[in-house]
Amino acid sequence: PGFAEDAAPQSVAEARERAADCRACPLWEPATQTVFGKGPDDAPVIFVGEQPGDQEDIAGEPFVGPAGKVFDQALAAAGIDRSQAYVTNAVKHFKFEPRGKRRIHAKPNTGEIRICRWWLDQERALIAPKLIVALGATAAQAVLGKSVTIKATRSKLIDLDDRTQLLVTVHPSYILRLPDQAAKDRETQAFQADMALVLETVPELA
Ligand code: URA
Ligand code: SF4
Repeated sequence: PGFAEDAAPQSVAEARERAADCRACPLWEPATQTVFGKGPDDAPVIFVGEQPGDQEDIAGEPFVGPAGKVFDQALAAAGIDRSQAYVTNAVKHFKFEPRGKRRIHAKPNTGEIRICRWWLDQERALIAPKLIVALGATAAQAVLGKSVTIKATRSKLIDLDDRTQLLVTVHPSYILRLPDQAAKDRETQAFQADMALVLETVPELA
């Protein structure tokens, strides 16, 4: 199923309502609910993650679990008020593999990213932000429509169109997964520096 013939939603609220019933790819079925973006529909910045995690799937809101905590700390360190930004994900259902009672995060594939991109495109068109911040390679792939490396794209302002620039950085979960504290500290610093660049680019976020 595709979205090609579907009329574009006229508001973020309409998009959110319609996405709640989306069945365009198989990820909706085992998940609890669609986790749509959250924030003002005239936000100057859209942060894009990968997909909701276990806690987001249950809460119905993006970045409220462990990765959300890393994200919140980096925003706070940079002096960014999260409530001024719109926060969403490239893929809007939680993909997981059951392991006993636990649900283990599984990476969305290229097809799922491409299909769910329709929703991200609607959010982008309706919000028309000055800046999109891609948190990780999946988000960057969803925004750019092609796969890129973090190494090649990180910390640079990339023009998407007349109004909107893109900044690619790491995903907060990447920092969580680092094995040793020195690497964690170093990457936390680098992530905070990227958030400082976000604030420098869009001072309204303070
Ligand atoms: N990781 C993401 O990419 N998004 C979330 O909302 C939570 C964790
Ligand atoms: Fe629809 Fe995206 Fe959910 Fe797939 S992951 S069912 S495309 S909202």
